[in-house]
Amino acid sequence: MRTFAVLLAALAEATAVFACDPVAIPEPGPDGRYTISAPGIKAQFIPYGASLTNLFVADKNGKDIDVVLGYDDAAYYPKDPGHPVYNSIPGRYVNRIGKGQYTLDGEVHKTELNDGDNTLHSGTNNWSFRDWNVTALTADSITFAISDASNSSLGMLGRVESSVTYSVTNSTWRIQMTAASPDNRTPLMLTQHTYFNLDAYKNPATPLIWDHTLYLPYSKRYLEADQGALPTGKILTADPGTINDFASKPSVQFGHAVNDSLFHGNCGANGACEGYNGYWLIEDAPKDAVVLSLASAFSGVKADLRTTQPGIVLYSCSWMDGSAAIKSTQGLDKSQKVVKSSCVAIEAQDYPDGINHPEWNRTTAQILGPGQTYDWESSWTFGLV
Ligand SMILES: *[C@@H]1O[C@H](CO)[C@@H](O)[C@H](O)[C@H]1NC(C)=O
Ligand SMILES: *[C@@H]1O[C@H](CO)[C@@H](O)[C@H](O)[C@H]1NC(C)=O
Ligand SMILES: *[C@@H]1O[C@H](CO)[C@@H](O)[C@H](O)[C@H]1NC(C)=O
Ligand SMILES: *[C@@H]1O[C@H](CO)[C@@H](O)[C@H](O)[C@H]1NC(C)=O
Ligand SMILES: *[C@@H]1O[C@H](CO)[C@@H](O)[C@H](O)[C@H]1NC(C)=O
Ligand SMILES: *[C@@H]1O[C@H](CO)[C@@H](O)[C@H](O)[C@H]1NC(C)=O
Repeated sequence: MRTFAVLLAALAEATAVFACDPVAIPEPGPDGRYTISAPGIKAQFIPYGASLTNLFVADKNGKDIDVVLGYDDAAYYPKDPGHPVYNSIPGRYVNRIGKGQYTLDGEVHKTELNDGDNTLHSGTNNWSFRDWNVTALTADSITFAISDASNSSLGMLGRVESSVTYSVTNSTWRIQMTAASPDNRTPLMLTQHTYFNLDAYKNPATPLIWDHTLYLPYSKRYLEADQGALPTGKILTADPGTINDFASKPSVQFGHAVNDSLFHGNCGANGACEGYNGYWLIEDAPKDAVVLSLASAFSGVKADLRTTQPGIVLYSCSWMDGSAAIKSTQGLDKSQKVVKSSCVAIEAQDYPDGINHPEWNRTTAQILGPGQTYDWESSWTFGLV
């Protein structure tokens, strides 16, 4: 097995890219994962949802820790009834479509109601539930592709061809997505839906995410949402020190508002959703600026996000109910589970439900057609606080 792995690594380095030739792509490792690495970082992926399963970076003691959520068993992802969209690509139009409909070029299209009164992640047959094709692989990058037939998600018309390339360099994980709709104009909005716990669940004081710090220097404003986490249309400003403020000073404790009377219900569900499940605008950020920093004093790990996207969804795992196991690479003992509010999903994306809010001026960015290309890029750079 070792010889095989060495051979694969040598092949990958020598040939650089096996572009668009599925037969030339090596099989994943015995654990079902593809592994890429560079100094200070190792990332592993599965074709299901083009998902990241493990991400190892150095903590303050120089030990490599796995800072994203997932499962040990790659075969469990498709079976998991919870399907939290673990570090995968939901598409072709992420987040919610209000009331399951949108109007395009004067025609009303109905989409599937799979999240209360709304559509979430395009409904069934969404991209995070499908095995993507691996189309290129090197020692430090991997490309997955998907071909999505017209109307395979109800009301999403026109074939879409898309790919995501994940690459690593020097403690940085880069994500580049591209998509095209060659036949029709159609809504297109993608994200990488990564869940973090920068302590790898090893902090004996708390498994919760609230001890992390968060800084969104360009995100004073956020979208107001209703009880179903659907934007109402209003754009609000978070006053310094209030529950949704992560912009006014660096290193605000993520759980700074845990004792605030607004904390329970801040993300809707008539009080049942505690913490955060909303969208913050990124405004007036210089090109290539760090737009979000998540850090933990316990592990000493800091994660800096750069993105081409105009905003970020933060979801603080209120719906994790303690049923999901944690990976053997994480935690203090094997019985530990993913409890409520013990992680944060950070999703750079365009304005949710922008296709139903022409007043936000996002429809040009969110509706793509023949001759156009959708591009999305983000990177996470890891270091120490
Ligand atoms: C995604 O698609 C799968 C498979 O069709 C379906 O079971 C699931 O409910 C869908 N998820 C969402 C959020 O629509
Ligand atoms: C993977 O490639 C095959 C062969 O081209 C194609 O039939 C299949 O639809 C592709 N899978 C996805 C998810 O696009
Ligand atoms: C889309 O699929 C649904 C059934 O899933 C069908 O009723 C509808 O006619 C289809 N729409 C188009 C434009 O093909
Ligand atoms: C890696 O990143 C560190 C910190 O950003 C930087 O000091 C160093 O020069 C980089 N090394 C290479 C080879 O790019
Ligand atoms: C919340 O209240 C608890 C109990 O009084 C206290 O220990 C904790 O420090 C408070 N947290 C914050 C962020 O204010
Ligand atoms: C959309 O554009 C109009 C006209 O330029 C402008 O008044 C409005 O503020 C813009 N909306 C947003 C959310 O940027």
